[in-house]
Amino acid sequence: MRPLRVGMIGIGTVGAGTFRVLMRNQALIAGRAGRGIEVVVVAARNLARAASVVGKDAALTNDPMQVATHPDVDVVVEVAGGIGPAREWVLAAIAAGKHVVTANKAMLAVHGNEIFAAAREHGVAMAYEGAVAVSIPIVKALREGLTANRIEWVAGIINGTTNFILSKMRDEGVGFAEALAQAQALGYAEADPTFDIEGIDAAHKITLLAANAFGMPVRFADAQVEGITTLQGLDVACAEQLDYRIKLLGVARRRHDGVELRVQPALVPAAHLLAHVNGSMNGIMVKGDAAGVTMYYGAGAGSEQTASAVIADLVDLARLDGTSAAQRVPHLGFHAHAMNEQLA
Ligand code: HSE
Repeated sequence: MRPLRVGMIGIGTVGAGTFRVLMRNQALIAGRAGRGIEVVVVAARNLARAASVVGKDAALTNDPMQVATHPDVDVVVEVAGGIGPAREWVLAAIAAGKHVVTANKAMLAVHGNEIFAAAREHGVAMAYEGAVAVSIPIVKALREGLTANRIEWVAGIINGTTNFILSKMRDEGVGFAEALAQAQALGYAEADPTFDIEGIDAAHKITLLAANAFGMPVRFADAQVEGITTLQGLDVACAEQLDYRIKLLGVARRRHDGVELRVQPALVPAAHLLAHVNGSMNGIMVKGDAAGVTMYYGAGAGSEQTASAVIADLVDLARLDGTSAAQRVPHLGFHAHAMNEQLA
């Protein structure tokens, strides 16, 4: 079978990681996918920097639209980030009949309903495992492993940067600003770190998890959001003395009148499993009526950690023959949308 041909928009932290892992594990990935996965073209703002990552293995352009509509591309991987322009590229790719894989939670949280509707209309897949809790396959867990369950709630630590900051403040007495600078240097933070520290990034993610878990539209505007910017070292130390840890939690809970979406710093008892999720790690708990409570743990940020999820989506697509992906592999589409209208 011919290889799955990929066009990438963005070759920054996540894009470079994706390219690196695809090259490093090429044979292994092809074996599992049943065919090769080849990056044929990459769009980047800085072509010299992009060339240092992809070498001669892919063509380069500084026009993302060229990748979105490229005749030799089966799947567009959007890892440029941002909201407005990314939406345009993704919609153009969908209209051109391309499947899309993205790690862009901000774009999906804000424009997801429009984008998923377009993907359904054009019969292509819109996959986004890398958008939430990067290394943890939580989208697949909700849509596949827990598919028999009526989900009661989803709750957890879903922002690596703030968890890293809170852990540094507690364990090493590092100040907020210095801990944030370290998280930025390690590549955990968003381009605009306000998204992390104000809880917005976690709200993007809990919105997407809720859409999956409860079969509801993407409702980012309904989330109540509080970040960690007003927390001080003293708060962290006091919580510690009382045998609690302060964690920024994202919570989506079924209520009689709909679904409650919240992000806020919370006091977690030191003995609780989530209290042991430290550094840039993420931990997510899901309560289903049949499975009970399940928990998922793994790196919540990072270049190859996100690449792991992006490539998992590519492998799913490679396993298809290219037609009706959204119908044949429901977790790649957004079938849940129509499933539970009473929550809409
Ligand atoms: N800034 C995000 C975080 C990156 O810290 O969790 C991964 O989504």
